[in-house]
Formats: sequence, C-alpha cells, structure tokens
Amino acid sequence: MKKFLITTAIDYPSGKPHLGHAYEKICTDVIARYKRMAGFDVHFSTGTDEHGMKIQRCAEKKHKDPQQYVDEMSGHFRELCEVLNISYDDFIRTTDPKHIRTAQQIFRDIYEKGEIYKGTYEGLYCVDCETYYTEKDLKDGKCPVHGTVPETVSEESYFFQMGKYREKLLGHIRKHKEYIQPDAKRHEIENRLNDPLKDLSVSRTSFDWGVPVPIDEKHVQYVWMDALINYLSTIGWPSDEAKEYWKSAVHIIGKDIVWHHTVIWGSILMAAGIPLPKTVYVHGFVNIKGEKMSKSGGTVVNPVELAVKYGADPMRYFLVSEIPFGSDGDFSLESLFTRNNDELLNNLGNLVNRILTFISSKNASKVTKPGKYDEADRAMEKSIKRYPAVVAKLLDSFNLQAALDNVMKLAKEGNEYFQQKEPWKRDYDNCLYIGANLLRSLAIMLSPFIPESAEKIWKYLNLPGSVHKQKWDSAAEFGVRPHHVIGTPEPLFKRLSV
Ligand code: MSP
Repeated sequence: MKKFLITTAIDYPSGKPHLGHAYEKICTDVIARYKRMAGFDVHFSTGTDEHGMKIQRCAEKKHKDPQQYVDEMSGHFRELCEVLNISYDDFIRTTDPKHIRTAQQIFRDIYEKGEIYKGTYEGLYCVDCETYYTEKDLKDGKCPVHGTVPETVSEESYFFQMGKYREKLLGHIRKHKEYIQPDAKRHEIENRLNDPLKDLSVSRTSFDWGVPVPIDEKHVQYVWMDALINYLSTIGWPSDEAKEYWKSAVHIIGKDIVWHHTVIWGSILMAAGIPLPKTVYVHGFVNIKGEKMSKSGGTVVNPVELAVKYGADPMRYFLVSEIPFGSDGDFSLESLFTRNNDELLNNLGNLVNRILTFISSKNASKVTKPGKYDEADRAMEKSIKRYPAVVAKLLDSFNLQAALDNVMKLAKEGNEYFQQKEPWKRDYDNCLYIGANLLRSLAIMLSPFIPESAEKIWKYLNLPGSVHKQKWDSAAEFGVRPHHVIGTPEPLFKRLSV
C-alpha cells in the first residue's frame, strides 16, 4: 500500500490550546481521513513542542519543574484532539526519548559533515516565537509577530552553515512548485531568499531546558533545531519504512512559520542528505472580528469548551466551510450557528430525515426496488456517480472548502430531487431507492469532514462496518440494494442558538 505522511506543526504547550490550533488539526485530519479512504497507508502526526526558553520561563512562573509542567500542559492538546475526533496516528512530544535520540542524531550527522561550527551569537531574540531577528526584521523595534521588544542575546553558540544553501534552496523551490503552497507563499519565500542568508545559531547556553547538544553537553539545541526534527522521529527515521513515508511528506502549518519550515528545515535536510518534504502547505489564521486572537483582548476562544458545548462536527464543518484553506478567516458564534442551522440542519439533516422516515413509514423500513427511471432519476443518479471524483480532485489539491461545498451541493440537489418527485403523491420506488443510495454516498464523502454524523448516517442506513473504512471511490456506487432494511433514524443535528 502506498504510504502517505501528513503532519501538523507541534504546538507550544505554554498555554492552553486555542482555536488556531484546533483549526490546523481539523484541516489536517480531513486530509488524513480522506487519504486513508483513498487507499493510502497514512501516518498522521501531531503533538507538542516542549523545550526552549519560553516553556522554561512559563514553568518557573508556575513554580513547576519543566517536565511536570509540559506533562500537564501537553494533556490539554491531547484532549483537544480527542474532543475534535482528530484521527492522529502519533502524538509526538519533543521530550519523548525517541525524539531526543533522533534530534541528537541529526545534529551529530550535520556536525560530522562539517556543517556546524562554534562561534558567538550576538543579536536579538524573540522568546515568544523562539526566533532570532535582525534590526531589519523588526517593526518599530518590535517583533513582527508578537509586537514585543526582543531580548539582546550574547552567548557562545554553535552555528549551522545555513547561508550556503540559499541558491540550492531557491533552485529547489523554483523546480518543485508543490514544495511551498499556496503559490503566494512560495513567492514570499523566493523574494526573501534574494537577500543573503545568514548562518543559523543552533545551540544555546543561557538555559538548559532542551535537547543536549550531543557533541558538547554545555549547550542545548536551539528549539527549532529540535522541534522540526519531530517530523522524522515520528516515523522512526531512518528505518526503511520511514523513508517510504518521507517520500510523500506533507507539512500543514500556519503562515507565521513558513520560513522555519521551508528555509531552516529545508537547509537542515539538505545538509543531512535527506530529501525535502513534498509539500509545505500554509494555512491562514483564524481571527476574531478581523483581529488576531489575544489574551489581553479577551478574544482567545477555547476550542475544547466549544466542542463540548456545541459538538465537534458543527465546529469542524464551520471552520472548513467558512475559511478558504490558505487564507485568513473569522470566527464568531453567530456564524457558527448560522452554518449549523442553515446548512447542516436544514439542508443535510433535513434530507437524511426525509428519506429515511419515508422509507420507515411508507415501506416498512425496506428500500424499494426501482422501476423505469424518469429524467429526474437519471440526473440524480448521474450526480451521485459524478461527485466523488470531483470532490477527490479538490481534496488532492488542498481545496478543502470547495470540496465540502460540493458535497453539500449534492445534498441540496438531493433535497430538490425529493421535492420534485413528491413521493408522498405518487410512485415512490425510484425516489427511495436512489435516495437511500444518495445518503450512502454522502455519508462516505462527509466522513473526513464530519466523522460522527457520517457514521450516524451509515448506522441509520443499517450498512455493515464503519463508514470510515469505506473506499472513497465506492461513494460513486449504488451499494444499498432493494429490500435492504434500514435502521431507526434520529435527528442528526440540533438547532444552535445563544
Ligand atoms: N511550536 C511551533 C511549531 C513547531 S513545528 C516544528 C509553533 N507553535 S504554536 O503553538 O505557536 O503554533 C502551532 C500552529 O498553530 C502553527 O502552525 C501556527 O501557525 C498555528 N496557529 C497559531 N495561531 C493561529 C491562528 N490564530 N489561526 C490558525 N493557526 C494558527 O509555532
């Protein structure tokens, strides 16, 4: 079976998860679930980035040992995955021994190739992004991401000769358009690479909460030189199996860490003699009223509370349908409620309910045997057969929003078909047979997006096994046979209001 690796960024557990973390995990989960149904052996990893100065300081503030602190905080991110039905295969923590081993191995490999030298780092550092800055990078003397004044650092450090990879990186980026997606992000990085590229400080001595540098234990590895390597440790690099997964690696990340994932990670991999990931796909930010969520502004949304209160599926549905993947978007409870009520409840829920209750009440829960098709039947059948390939193509090109939109279009066509056929007035054999198969097809195509509801449709249809185990292409088939007895339908969605 062909292997496929997909990863989210690993989150800083310096606070509880917010909606941005939820968004990234949901979108990545949609792709992972789809790829499994498309026949791939998927490894989907997510996790927490637990070392570095930021974490050490947070732990100190709480009078906790850093390990105890990250053990506790990492649990919140795992909980987020559970409540949102994120189907990860590995939750990787950078304090896992398997990760520490790999992180040290890569450092050592690069050192032994002569790519790392000792020097002194003098300059600016933003602890919140754990990133080195030059004066030129700053906005009014402040970090461009956090708006805080960076600290001035001067310490002995090991340096990685990143600078010499500038041209090679540019060559790779230009040749492999799929390496950085969407295109606008690729252009941004290409432009930045027109300037000289500096070597990267890859170790610190002023604190000790990190992976010890294998060749000099006075130093700890720079947190990005540790964190990025999680993508290799999660698959058990350098096993043969890991190399197979790596060929198809896709990193899903937010727009603030594109440089780290394409230039820093790309050059580390080049130095280590490891191929670059196939794609770094960059998504936008979830904002509140057009503004970045902020603790001080009280606009940080707790996604665990939301999912528990309103359900994982309405949240998953909202975030994927509302925000074009690759652009910024806004979250508000009102728009979550509107999408839930208008689209999930009134379109999809209504369709499922109509068809299934009709089969239960009019035909003793048995799917009818179809007769001769009329034009409406033929059109509906054609759509059921056509949509799975359309949606697959959109998912393969990371167009999650359009993919979901198309599935919902099919549901809408289904409602119109039912309305047009008026089965309560005349012969309903074709309508119920096609309707049951339409629901089957929708359940399969919805399963990556709203897994709980898709599984419910599957159960109401009384089909064997789990919808998540179905082959994607089988959504185009008519798998519900005449005389099949369906289960007992229940309402799929609740109306949401304040
Ligand atoms: N620990 C680093 C990543 C290391 S990956 C080797 C980090 N952590 S983070 O917790 O700050 O961010 C984790 C992910 O969430 C990143 O991809 C980031 O872009 C994303 N998001 C953070 N805020 C976000 C929004 N408001 N909206 C959407 N995604 C956002 O960076």
